[in-house]
Amino acid sequence: MNPFKEILAATIAEKLENHSPKEIFELIETPPNSDMGDYAFPCFRLAKVFRKAPQAIASELAKNVQLPEPFKKAEAAGGYLNFYFNRGKLAEIILNKVLQEKEYYGSSDEGNDQVVCIDFSAPNIAKPFHVGHLRSTVIGSSLYKIYSHMGYECVGINHLGDWGTQFGKVIVAYKNWGSEERIKEEPIQGLLDLYVKFHEESEKNPALEDEARDWFVRMEKGDEEALALWKWFSNETINELQKIYKLLDVHFDHYTGESFYNDKMEPVLKDLKEKNLLQESEGAILIDLEPYGMPPCLVQKKDGSTLYATRDITAAIYRKKTFDFSKCLYLTDYSQNLHFEQWFKVIELMGYDWAQNLEHVPFGRVTHEGRRIQSRKGTVVLLEEVIHGAIEKVSEIIEEKNPELDNKEETAIAVGVGAVIFNDLSHNRIKDISFSWDTAFSFDGETGPYVQYTHARAGSVLRKAAIELENWKPVINGAYLEDEVSNQVIRQMEIFGDAVRDAMKKNEPSILTRHVVDLAQTFNRFYHDHPILVENIELRETRLALVMSVKEVLKLGLSLLGIKAPERM
Ligand code: ARG
Repeated sequence: MNPFKEILAATIAEKLENHSPKEIFELIETPPNSDMGDYAFPCFRLAKVFRKAPQAIASELAKNVQLPEPFKKAEAAGGYLNFYFNRGKLAEIILNKVLQEKEYYGSSDEGNDQVVCIDFSAPNIAKPFHVGHLRSTVIGSSLYKIYSHMGYECVGINHLGDWGTQFGKVIVAYKNWGSEERIKEEPIQGLLDLYVKFHEESEKNPALEDEARDWFVRMEKGDEEALALWKWFSNETINELQKIYKLLDVHFDHYTGESFYNDKMEPVLKDLKEKNLLQESEGAILIDLEPYGMPPCLVQKKDGSTLYATRDITAAIYRKKTFDFSKCLYLTDYSQNLHFEQWFKVIELMGYDWAQNLEHVPFGRVTHEGRRIQSRKGTVVLLEEVIHGAIEKVSEIIEEKNPELDNKEETAIAVGVGAVIFNDLSHNRIKDISFSWDTAFSFDGETGPYVQYTHARAGSVLRKAAIELENWKPVINGAYLEDEVSNQVIRQMEIFGDAVRDAMKKNEPSILTRHVVDLAQTFNRFYHDHPILVENIELRETRLALVMSVKEVLKLGLSLLGIKAPERM
């Protein structure tokens, strides 16, 4: 929690009966501009308790509170008690803290090593890996880092769609129109082509659908030929997926896809039955959810095959047993809202109180230049295409602007991938985004490359100052950082940890992208207004310390979003 707000809360609580520092903490606000104070405590709620006007309470508190450093004054105004920092003192505290804590700055142990499972990415084998999966991948990966920063132990799980009726379709298509070389050469695209072909052909010849269903039933029954094809398709795809994850620098602790639960569903179905939750309907087995205003949750089809929901129920029970999570997050687009609501309810009906710790984190759809991305017809933007397109675009820009740069290729990857991730994470997650080649890679405005560039610019200032960064102990005199812009930079670093926590509380990385953009913009104003390499050693070192701190915080913020910060670009 913000240490300065904590200090204030404790100070105020001392003067009030029956109010804990925690309650006070929750009430403290940040005024819209710094003329009205750096923090403010509204006294309106206390008016009833104390039977006094808010303004009177604020005035009395202003007289009585004993303000500790780095605060300098408290003033009552319009029912608020406004607090002002001693700007210089605050600057010294923040800069020293950032330079000392570096990548741990703003971290916390509040997670207390509790386990958070994060189920993300989860593309479907033999179906396209499209920009919708990119959203799940980058939001999930960022949340993984954010929760870890807050002291949680994260378990990243890729619940691959590696089981299901699509395999029946692809097997039929492979046998009729496929070739081994094609799959080996380009497994994801090759399987997708077969999938698309199947749908084209089955429109003309509906009997293919039955054939596909048969193949899937054979898979479920353990048929050797069917399983060998399935295994081969899966392995080829996972190998190729791992290349994409490597490029994105995304990491999973477990690749336990849907097929992992094949032998674990029977006991769960038995348990459901013993708990009297199952009903039969035209040969299929389901759980009635009508009392909860939802359609039934189907767990077994009439041909005996299981479903997506059956595997999710089983997986949740397995994860609870294996990891004893305090929370399990699921990242998919909002079209799956009902699916999650249904089976979360089933877990609850099974009597598991941890049902309340399952949380669907939905996000908006991605349209491609105005059109819905559709897998069946093949109008997809393959993730790889997006990433490689971005890298190519960045390479061209580097060639044009900075052809002498070392590590051109590495930088192009970091910036291209960073642009894609940042673009995705800068939208409020629940909003639909329209993906367009032009805006995704724009280097102006509130983009990843802009923040990366600001970081590199800070690095170049430090290089020009030619200081031994490793053991540098700058002389910091906060009195030099009391002007408006310097103070804003300091304040933004002060609340960095709050932004991380807020992003975690709302499962909303866009709060963090917003914050790093603000910090980058304010820093660029500082850089524009203040010469850094000045004669006065104390002033110079103080400003350099600010530059170095901003560089650390930008790098840390980017890394929590899953984005690299190249030293030069
Ligand atoms: N494979 C699914 C899809 O692409 C997402 C899986 C999400 N995770 C889960 N446990 N259901 O739509």
